[in-house]
Order: sequence, then structure tokens, then C-alpha cells
Amino acid sequence: MISIAAVQTKPEFGAIEKNLKRVAQLFPKAADLVVLPELFNTGYQFLDQKELYELAETETGATIQFLREIAFQHNAVIVAGLPLRRGRQVNNSAVLVDGSGLQGRYDKLHLFYRENDLFQPGNDSPPVIDLGFAKIGLMVCFDWIFPELSRSLALRGADIIAHPANLVLPFCQDAMITRSLENHIFTITANRVGSESRWDETLTFTGKSQITSWNGNRLMQAGNSQEMIISAMIEPKEAREKKINQYNDLFAMRHKEPALCE
Ligand code: ACM
Repeated sequence: MISIAAVQTKPEFGAIEKNLKRVAQLFPKAADLVVLPELFNTGYQFLDQKELYELAETETGATIQFLREIAFQHNAVIVAGLPLRRGRQVNNSAVLVDGSGLQGRYDKLHLFYRENDLFQPGNDSPPVIDLGFAKIGLMVCFDWIFPELSRSLALRGADIIAHPANLVLPFCQDAMITRSLENHIFTITANRVGSESRWDETLTFTGKSQITSWNGNRLMQAGNSQEMIISAMIEPKEAREKKINQYNDLFAMRHKEPALCE
């Protein structure tokens, strides 16, 4: 059994140092895998690409260094969302970091709303990282509405999908029950709370971070307005059985005809 957790935070836009300090205060004491929200260090409403570039970091920047130190201190693996530079472009990325450093990176493929004016979409398949005690797939927020992404992670062996998010619509938390059930995998959605009004509209983030079991059970859900930690004890290997009865194996009975795959 392992302990998995989501930390639901309320970042202040642009206050990276303050946002990192808050994560250090909230960090769970004894979790093996901890998921933080999307853009957890910077906040969400960048005014333009110049501001985003200035707040973004590289893989050797202070935020990943901070994650490495916290992971080392707590003997944990962390998945977190942050803006990462690649040359002049910036990706909306998720990273997997342990006590020895960066072990995996995913650049969000499906950018949501005005993110399309700011970020470069990713090019690569989302990774599945084998930690020994579990295989972790990465996706970011709006990827939830494209079921082929979580399916692809599950087909490549993910036991758990770690899902940093900045959700503003109310549908994802229910949809993640289906993402878990249709793939027989655990999912951890770490959302944020609070509002930002730097654009000509206020966005309010919906919280309700959630840990969902392979059988569709909602193991834990946070509230919609407070910073908090949710956690659960799970056995990752339970996600490897795709048979739901003697007739139905969710993966073996998939049809791969082009009409169903295109
Ligand atoms: C989102 O992708 N941040 C909704």
C-alpha cells in the first residue's frame, strides 16, 4: 500500500516565492506521491507572452530545485504544474520530481481558452514514469475532456494518473470517475481555489480536488474554497487487472477498426 495525496492551494499571481513557501507549509508529512495544481508557482492569468516568459523558468530553475528539496526532505515523489521555457516559447507543463531531481516532463497538449494566446502546445506523448512502487502517467487540466489521452496513458501501463489542474468549469471531477472506471486506474486531480481578475473577466477556480479509485469510487474530495490536503492509501497494482468479469476485459475487447480510432 502507498499513500497518495493532492495539495489544493490558492496561489497569488506572480508571487512565486510566497507560493512555494505556502506549499512547504502545507506539504503532507507522510505521502509517497503528492500532486500539486497546474501553474502552482505563478498563478494563471498572464497578461501577455512577455509576462509569461518572465515568470516561466527552465528545468534548472528555482521551482524545480525547490520541489527536489521538498521531495528529498519528505522522501516523496511530487507531480506539479508550472510554466517551463523551451527557447523563446513557454509550455504549460507538469513535472515529476523526486529527491534526486527531475524524472519526467509533460507539456500540455490541449490548451484551454486564452492559454492558446500564451503557451506553446506540447508535441510529445504524455509520459508514463515507472517509480517501482507504481507507474505514473501525467496529464494537465483540460486534457480530461479528451478520453484518448488517459486511455493512451493506461494502455502504456499507468496505474495512477497525476493530474494538476486549474479548473473553472464544474464537469471534470465527475468526468474523472469515468476516466478511472473506463481504464481501471487511479486518478489524482489536484485543483486550486481562489479567483483571479487580471483579465477583463474574473475566473474562479473550482477546487474539489479528488482522488478516484480504479473502480470509480471517489476516495476523497476537497471542498471548493479552502486550501487543504486530501490523501488516501491505495494498492497501485489493483489497477493492473482490466478484467471486470469472466467475459469482459476492458483492454482486450477494444475494437481497433479505423472507424473507431479516427
Ligand atoms: C484548464 O485547462 N486550465 C481548464
